[in-house]
Amino acid sequence: MREDIYSILSVSQRRNAAQGVTGALMCDTSWFLQCLEGDSADVAATYDRIQLDPRHWNATIIGTRDVMARTFPHWTMQLTVGNRATTAILKRVSTDGRFWPNRMTFDTALAVLAAASLATAAQPTAAA
Ligand SMILES: Cc1cc2nc3c(=O)[nH]c(=O)nc-3n(C[C@H](O)[C@H](O)[C@H](O)COP(=O)(O)O)c2cc1C
Repeated sequence: MREDIYSILSVSQRRNAAQGVTGALMCDTSWFLQCLEGDSADVAATYDRIQLDPRHWNATIIGTRDVMARTFPHWTMQLTVGNRATTAILKRVSTDGRFWPNRMTFDTALAVLAAASLATAAQPTAAA
């Protein structure tokens, strides 16, 4: 895991809480996969900030969708990474079992994050 992930996470949680944004983040040493949820203007403003961050590059949007309800309503940003369940999920969706978010369809990316979120035992960071 990248060493700066926890500083990314704490800023993300603080800023997202202020902006009403929720979501989940997965990463390995090479890639990030993230879902941002909220009012479209808030998500766009958040993405604009993320895009400028020099800790990553070539950010791309896999997809956007209007939804009736959030998938991660209790997480200002949940880190879903590094446990056995998450590894098992990746084995199911990737031909070589590795984390290739750049090869995922929108539906697969969301399903991976949602499954990893459920499998990750931790305390929610947003009020119910
Ligand atoms: C992979 C990645 C994901 C990030 N996710 C968020 C996020 O969800 N919300 C957020 O506010 N900042 C996120 N950040 C941090 C922003 O890029 C930025 O550093 C932070 O919002 C502070 O912005 P500011 O310096 O303009 O105030 C993320 C950064 C990276 C590299």
